Amino acid sequence: MEVIETIAQMRELRRAMRLTPETTLALVPTMGALHKGHGRLIQRALTLATNVVVSSFVNPLQFNDSRDLASYPRTPEQDQDICKKLGVHYYFMPKPEEIYPPGFLTTVNVSHLSKKLEGASRPGHFRGVCTVVTKLFNIVQPDFAVFGHKDAQQLVLIRHMVRDLAMDVEIVAVPTERDKNGLALSSRNVLLDDDGRRKALCLNRALRRVHFLVKKQGITHVGELLQAVRSAINSAGDGVELDYAHIVSRMTLEELNHVERGNTLVLIAARVGGVRLIDSTRL
Ligand code: PAJ
Repeated sequence: MEVIETIAQMRELRRAMRLTPETTLALVPTMGALHKGHGRLIQRALTLATNVVVSSFVNPLQFNDSRDLASYPRTPEQDQDICKKLGVHYYFMPKPEEIYPPGFLTTVNVSHLSKKLEGASRPGHFRGVCTVVTKLFNIVQPDFAVFGHKDAQQLVLIRHMVRDLAMDVEIVAVPTERDKNGLALSSRNVLLDDDGRRKALCLNRALRRVHFLVKKQGITHVGELLQAVRSAINSAGDGVELDYAHIVSRMTLEELNHVERGNTLVLIAARVGGVRLIDSTRL
């Protein structure tokens, strides 16, 4: 595996790859602190293309809270080991000044979709995500880019951005990887203590409750389902605070009154022992 730190090096490599017509390239953008969820994305990427780039960049522009940025886990050596073992070809880890040189002014914003849900709780977050993903696409020029359903709104926005700006890349999505108790894997999980890990299971429990109510009891009224989500989260006790729970259209992220099977997303964000976690499911 080759480790690449500069845009110039990455471009040079991409140019060389184009000389072999059968070469295809898949990109897995990450912020490092890799876990099995990222591993799934990488495995998918390896089935899509002859070459795989994993990018690792803790993107300051998508953090609206400097303490959150400072405490974000960083495990670069372990990340490189994981990638090497999985068979990744290139590991791209640019420095912040490489991505945001002095005087950087241009950003990408997927208008009102950026302001909803996660965007309402974290102003500027998606502008940061869309800007860095655009920049990574421009640098790496992948044929495919792989993202997780775990960050459901991020995936909707990226697909929208690629369509709106006619970006020449195919977006491929991978289901959320969970631990054996159902907790969605996340780089932030290492920030949870034992009590937090136990309490964090309420997010998945709430989503499973919604599935049960819809599939087994035929309840489709969103108000009733959200009430069930709130009580599942509240029953976790002290130290768990629901940030939001929404049931929306999968394409437009508009609130729904009734579940539309095949077109519905349930999104939850909660703070567990001070750690912000998100989870989601499709109906
Ligand atoms: P990060 O949180 O590192 O996630 C990188 C990718 O891994 C995202 O596409 C995310 O949805 C996916 N992922 C995370 N946990 C997962 C899980 N449990 N199962 C499946 N996929 C999972 O998302 C970002 O970084 C950043 O916003 C980024 C897109 C890299 C831009 O900075």
